[in-house]
Amino acid sequence: MLLTFPLLTADELARARALLDGAQWQDGRGSAGAQAVQAKHNEQLDPASGASLALQELVTRALERAPRFLAAALPLRIFPPRFNRYTGATNHYGPHVDNAVRFADPVTRVRTDLSCTVFLSDPASYDGGELVIREPGGNRSVKLEAGHAVLYPGTSVHEVLPVTRGERLASFFWIESMVRSPEQRQLLLELDDALMMLREQGESPATIALMGTYHNLLRMWAQT
Ligand code: NI
Repeated sequence: MLLTFPLLTADELARARALLDGAQWQDGRGSAGAQAVQAKHNEQLDPASGASLALQELVTRALERAPRFLAAALPLRIFPPRFNRYTGATNHYGPHVDNAVRFADPVTRVRTDLSCTVFLSDPASYDGGELVIREPGGNRSVKLEAGHAVLYPGTSVHEVLPVTRGERLASFFWIESMVRSPEQRQLLLELDDALMMLREQGESPATIALMGTYHNLLRMWAQT
């Protein structure tokens, strides 16, 4: 499952860009695993910096009111969003897999069921920088409007192609879902989508019964 959705308003995007403009970047290899470190050539914000904390809150707030994200991810825990830059000599991240479990803080572990990237640069302002995700049906190449996000399986091999002009700014993070199984999560999303369509025609005994079915499936499958 790969889902793209608009996340940030124009105001939020402008605020994010202002925070990023004044930020201090550091070598991104500091936070990569032993294998990924060889593929990783980018820069990141220090997650403890003031700019990072303000940006984290901005992105997290936006996620909390993004219905498509909430319906698809059914988040239990969201890793505090991080921020990276691809430009100049540090301009790509070769094929790699993300660690299965990450520490959001010294005591909180997040199982990386889903990965999310929020694009923060105007796609016309840079060349390259596509996020390429290997899926069973073939590679998917993703390069979105600034403020839009892509949600994809944390299990995938993926890469960021070299940025050959300009700079690519993005936010990235992982989600531990209440529903660990991708198949169950997909069924819940399909049921939720169909129910939304039905409810647009008005509530009925059928929509109430189906809503009950949705919640009973979620109750059966969710870990909280
Ligand atoms: Ni990755």
